[in-house]
Amino acid sequence: MRNSGFVTRESNRLRAFPTGWFLICFSDELEAGEVKSIKFMGQDLVVFRTESGEACLSDAFCPHMGAHFAYGGAIEGEILRCPFHGFCFDTEGNCIKTGYGTKPPRKAKLRTWPLQEMNGLILAHHQQDWKAPEWTVPKLDDDEWTPLTHHTWELRANPYDTAENSVDFGHFSTVHGYRKTEILRPLHTDGPKLTARYAMDRDAGVFGNKNDLRAEFEITKWGLGYSCVEVEVPEYGLRSRHFVFPSAIDHEMLKLSLAISLRHVAHPEKINPLLRLVPRSVLHKLILAASMRGYKDDVSQDFEIWRNKIGIERPPLAEGDGPIHAFRKWAKQFDPSSSGEHDRVVSAAE
Ligand code: FES
Ligand SMILES: [Fe+2]
Repeated sequence: MRNSGFVTRESNRLRAFPTGWFLICFSDELEAGEVKSIKFMGQDLVVFRTESGEACLSDAFCPHMGAHFAYGGAIEGEILRCPFHGFCFDTEGNCIKTGYGTKPPRKAKLRTWPLQEMNGLILAHHQQDWKAPEWTVPKLDDDEWTPLTHHTWELRANPYDTAENSVDFGHFSTVHGYRKTEILRPLHTDGPKLTARYAMDRDAGVFGNKNDLRAEFEITKWGLGYSCVEVEVPEYGLRSRHFVFPSAIDHEMLKLSLAISLRHVAHPEKINPLLRLVPRSVLHKLILAASMRGYKDDVSQDFEIWRNKIGIERPPLAEGDGPIHAFRKWAKQFDPSSSGEHDRVVSAAE
């Protein structure tokens, strides 16, 4: 049976876990002093936060005699203490003391993962051969933006399909019912970064309105695990950031997280005349809740397709399809099972 890039054709299972930065959890899901169990890229890990606020991701099992840190492990200041024999580890995985006050064994080293925390996100870097990351996801200026509202599902899917979805223009009308999709700037890639800009009409039902809305979408992806779509609805003076974070749990299951942040609403009365009377903080909450409802509905329309599809290596594309070939050429760099050859800059002349 032929294989299609990242996935096996027959079942759409991931053949290899992709390279890049992927969401571990949102910052507000991890409190100081907390140790949480997490399954990521087929491995059992723990994510924890020290008393000073530093987040750390490490193997779940103690290198001494294998206890799981999330079951009775504790944060003491800046260290993680194992529940079994009290060995303590710093955030670089060094064993700094045993539970008996004796010299820590040299080989008692806990494996930790490269982590970055910014914009309310805790992202971890995965690379099969454990090379140091060659790039990071840049921090967004979020001074005038609300904190993230977020939602997470677990489903049978892979991060390759969910990432490709946002450049699959063909399915926007058939699956999601969007109309008049127009490409404002074609797909462009530069190393791990991919951008595109397009506009389309959709119904304004989430805001309780009957008319169609014209919205513009600026997609920015950093690898397969991070996607930010800046949405502008000129009619309402509405700007929001819609994020998607697909993170592989194992070869078959995906943790798919969505988040929304809102900039400002210049014309709330156009959404609903009563909104003029509402304080700004309440207004933001209302719009975020309505946007998240609509966003969840939109994304979940793809679930049955993702759960049941197979991978097609060379799809016979038609006019009306999106820049699928350009996307796949770019995505190859994150596939450890491919040769790793890719062009640094690809413009979507398909
Ligand atoms: S297993 Fe962790 S200290 Fe012994
Ligand atoms: Fe979709």
